[in-house]
Amino acid sequence: MIQQACEVARGTIARPVSPRGARLTELQALFPMVVVMDNATGTSNRLQFEFASAGRVLFGCGVRAELPAMARAFGLRPLVVTGRNYRRAATVLEMLSAAGLQPVRYAVGQEPEVATVRQGLGLARQEQCDFVIGFGGGSALDTAKAIAGLLPQSGEIEEHLEVVGPGRPLPRPGVPWVAVPTTAGTGAEVTRNAVLAVPEQRVKVSFRSPFLVARVALVDPELTMDCPPEVTAAAGLDALTQLLEAWVSPRATFLTDALCAEGLPRVARSLQRAWADGRDVAAREDMALAALLSGWALSNAGLGAVHGFAGPVGGLLPIPHGVVCGALLVPVTERNVRALRERAPDHPALQRYARAAQWLTGRAGAQPEDGVAWLRELTRALQIPRLSQFGFTAELVPEVVHRAARANSMKTNPIALTPDELTGALMAAL
Ligand SMILES: [Fe+2]
Repeated sequence: MIQQACEVARGTIARPVSPRGARLTELQALFPMVVVMDNATGTSNRLQFEFASAGRVLFGCGVRAELPAMARAFGLRPLVVTGRNYRRAATVLEMLSAAGLQPVRYAVGQEPEVATVRQGLGLARQEQCDFVIGFGGGSALDTAKAIAGLLPQSGEIEEHLEVVGPGRPLPRPGVPWVAVPTTAGTGAEVTRNAVLAVPEQRVKVSFRSPFLVARVALVDPELTMDCPPEVTAAAGLDALTQLLEAWVSPRATFLTDALCAEGLPRVARSLQRAWADGRDVAAREDMALAALLSGWALSNAGLGAVHGFAGPVGGLLPIPHGVVCGALLVPVTERNVRALRERAPDHPALQRYARAAQWLTGRAGAQPEDGVAWLRELTRALQIPRLSQFGFTAELVPEVVHRAARANSMKTNPIALTPDELTGALMAAL
């Protein structure tokens, strides 16, 4: 089966004809790394997978120096979406200007809203920007991604949003965008969705399209060395959650398994080190790679109940996404393992939780419960705040449980948790 997959990836096996054929051909012409098998035969035991990624990924200390040359291939006037820190943004703006480009900066704060994207879109049109660079954490990258996708379109962003809108597909590609992450967490540099808050409806929703993947991702671990400890912890726990949820997802494939198997041990050995000493290059390298791997994994295998909660919780209160993941990782994993033991003791996810526990603890015989205990100790050591510290109260729990039931990520949790189990997980994170 693996050999067949490799042949598919090399293009030596013809793609089956399907009603989606024209769209697939169009996508593959645009993004050569998108490999799609469309099982038109309906035979359930046939190989079927999709793997999406940024068109080109450069990883390593110092690769940020490639940015000006990369950028020049896409135009002269980029909209550069950055975080609020001007000193940090200045370095990239100077680098681009020195190479003859005319960057236009757009600074965003925490957790982007639909209005954040609309404002940046207006600026990009007014300044006649021809492509976009995202330089920062997940908020800057998701904003850059959404603006790049919408820049050549005539419709409104709401048309393309899930949950609050019809989620209509983007009719044509956006302008190119280049992703340069400066935190190690979301993996947004290789994913194809932007998560945006809609404050009027108190939700966070995805703007999703294969056209949203970055044309180039430059992942330079040295850029994360200024990350303060609390951001390092939250972002790192987001990456860890994404790897673990993709690892036990029913949509996992041999490709995403390989990514998680590489990423989880790296997080285990390096997250606490990167948090304790931001200048530890080896630890920063591990975490930057783990975040990248987690982005690939989640984009192609889906997530689980922690991320199912993250949208509704983040929509109600402005809590950083990584903090929500860190606070819920233990309560949710504990309930997943318990539910599997009680209701599906032969479920393969239990063996997967055991394997993850062995990577995390470094002990050959570790069981799923040992993994949960290790995660509890890690989140305690990293001083992850509780949700109540951000104003989250028990009164909000029923609404979040109700909303989370409809979240996409809930569908790829390894077992359906009952409303009581979901309520218990949230209460434990207060
Ligand atoms: Fe996440």
